[in-house]
Amino acid sequence: MDTTIQPSPDKIVVLVHQQYDAPDHLSPSALPASPLGLFRHWFTSAQGTVNEPEAMALSTVSAEGIPSTRIVLLKQVDNRGFVFYTNYNSRKSREIDANPHASLAFYWREVHRQVRVVGRVEKVTREESEAYFRSRPLGSRIGAWASNQSATIAEGELDQQINQIKDRFGIKEGDVEADIPLPDHWGGWRVIPNEVEFWAGKPSRLHDRVRYRCREGPQTDPPKWITERLSP
Ligand SMILES: Cc1cc2nc3c(=O)[nH]c(=O)nc-3n(C[C@H](O)[C@H](O)[C@H](O)COP(=O)(O)O)c2cc1C
Repeated sequence: MDTTIQPSPDKIVVLVHQQYDAPDHLSPSALPASPLGLFRHWFTSAQGTVNEPEAMALSTVSAEGIPSTRIVLLKQVDNRGFVFYTNYNSRKSREIDANPHASLAFYWREVHRQVRVVGRVEKVTREESEAYFRSRPLGSRIGAWASNQSATIAEGELDQQINQIKDRFGIKEGDVEADIPLPDHWGGWRVIPNEVEFWAGKPSRLHDRVRYRCREGPQTDPPKWITERLSP
């Protein structure tokens, strides 16, 4: 029996006290000048150790100030920001349209590290979305056309929509490739950070936290960052 969860019919009580001990000592004076340098180091060292290190929690906020969070996949990161792809009519995209600010969080349990990104959100160019869309497997490209992401849907409706899309693009059973254009309602968003926080778990909750803050707003080219240690 798992002794870390209290067996009770009407609630779940988690009893375990996880311990963390990351290999890092984050010292603001000895860090790369830009958060991308440290992110690159952490992300590449997570590969091979962490399952799906590119999975990140994305929080958006509606026009009414109600937040919502879901997991999406990081597809590119560079000096301009963190890019993910989605349906532009989805709940997340409508919230970004109304309030173009978002937060991302990565949690890499195997290495006891977390990264938070906060920033403004902009659409990537259509050329970037087209290039990424072309790289997706055929089934995912069909799905992007067929799914009205975040809308309510009847049982079986998605299969019908997929069949309609296959008919529209002349895709036959067994086809492994087809020329399908990028739908207007689909593409990438770029989170342009003005804050990136790195968290390294330590014993007794005395974690190491360092925050990069954009000194003059994210528009400066290249952005100037200040680093600060945060209390755990
Ligand atoms: C591991 C994982 C990766 C995902 N990646 C994406 C993604 O890159 N893009 C996307 O639109 N949805 C992705 N999803 C689905 C989203 O979590 C979410 O269900 C969907 O985007 C609809 O969100 P919304 O209704 O809040 O807009 C992923 C889910 C999981 C669990």
